[in-house]
Amino acid sequence: MCSGMRECAVRTIVITGGTDGMGAALARHYLAAGDRVVVIGRSRAKFEALVAASQSPSAPSRAEFIAADLALVEDSRRVVDHLKESHERIDALVLAASFIRQRRHSTPEGHEASWSLFFLSKYLFVTQLADLLRAGDRPVIVNTAVPGARPDAIGFDDLEMVDGFTFKRSNAQQRRANELLGILATDQNSDLSYVTWGPARLVRSSFAGEVGAGMKFAAAILGPLLGQRPEDAIQPIINIIDTPTPGRAAYRGAKTRPLAVGPHDEKDAARLASAVEEIL
Ligand SMILES: NC(=O)c1ccc[n+]([C@@H]2O[C@H](COP(=O)([O-])OP(=O)(O)OC[C@H]3O[C@@H](n4cnc5c(N)ncnc54)[C@H](OP(=O)(O)O)[C@@H]3O)[C@@H](O)[C@H]2O)c1
Repeated sequence: MCSGMRECAVRTIVITGGTDGMGAALARHYLAAGDRVVVIGRSRAKFEALVAASQSPSAPSRAEFIAADLALVEDSRRVVDHLKESHERIDALVLAASFIRQRRHSTPEGHEASWSLFFLSKYLFVTQLADLLRAGDRPVIVNTAVPGARPDAIGFDDLEMVDGFTFKRSNAQQRRANELLGILATDQNSDLSYVTWGPARLVRSSFAGEVGAGMKFAAAILGPLLGQRPEDAIQPIINIIDTPTPGRAAYRGAKTRPLAVGPHDEKDAARLASAVEEIL
């Protein structure tokens, strides 16, 4: 293990949703630490402000922005292809893009938008970037999908919830799917650390989304009042990335949680993969 930045090779840290909230806090941290940081989001202006605010004179040469709407499969594929063409390795992949929709919404490609952003895109990143992650010394994926959804939360017959969409069901399904994605990822790479992570409590972020009055209230009033600063909330993620343990794990804040284990996890993971390959 390298003991200081001088002895460490420069790492490549890829962060979806790296323009705001916790993703941006991680981007700032790793730019300050001397790493190469690839930020994926929609707003170039936010990225440029983030780099301009860095104290490190070399930050602009180590920061890359890829503009993409990750609710679109086409954009996720384009980003993945670009990363494969232009990078030799990825040391850490942080999946933190978030846009909360309480109602069902179809993308121009005809996919349910939350399923597409919170799972189809992540599936593409995790499976298609496997070789680049394999090239890293101690590769780690931190997937900011709150762990602990019920093992039966996936509606395999209607993954895009054409019928019976509710925010609660959609949220539980993507969270469970992201835990199963860890089985697929670590089965193929025993050196990989795959962590599903949620904050210990509300984080004062941008709360990007189209939400009802209740959530707007929580974001506008409770966020500033009770929420953690993103810089504080990400400290456990930094520990996970800097000292990864191969295999799967689940965290709330700094505390590990038992993995939610169902009776058919391996089978469900394989079923999910083949259903998604059909969709894609
Ligand atoms: N905040 C909390 O209390 C909380 C609680 C539980 C879980 N989490 C999870 O933690 C993660 C980070 O959340 P956060 O609250 O820190 O995020 P946030 O401040 O709401 O920021 C969302 C990020 O996602 C990007 N984004 C949104 N839609 C996108 C799209 N279609 N394509 C590409 N990028 C998109 C935004 O980029 P642009 O602005 O450039 O579009 C921004 O960088 C998320 O996975 C969230 O579910 C957060």
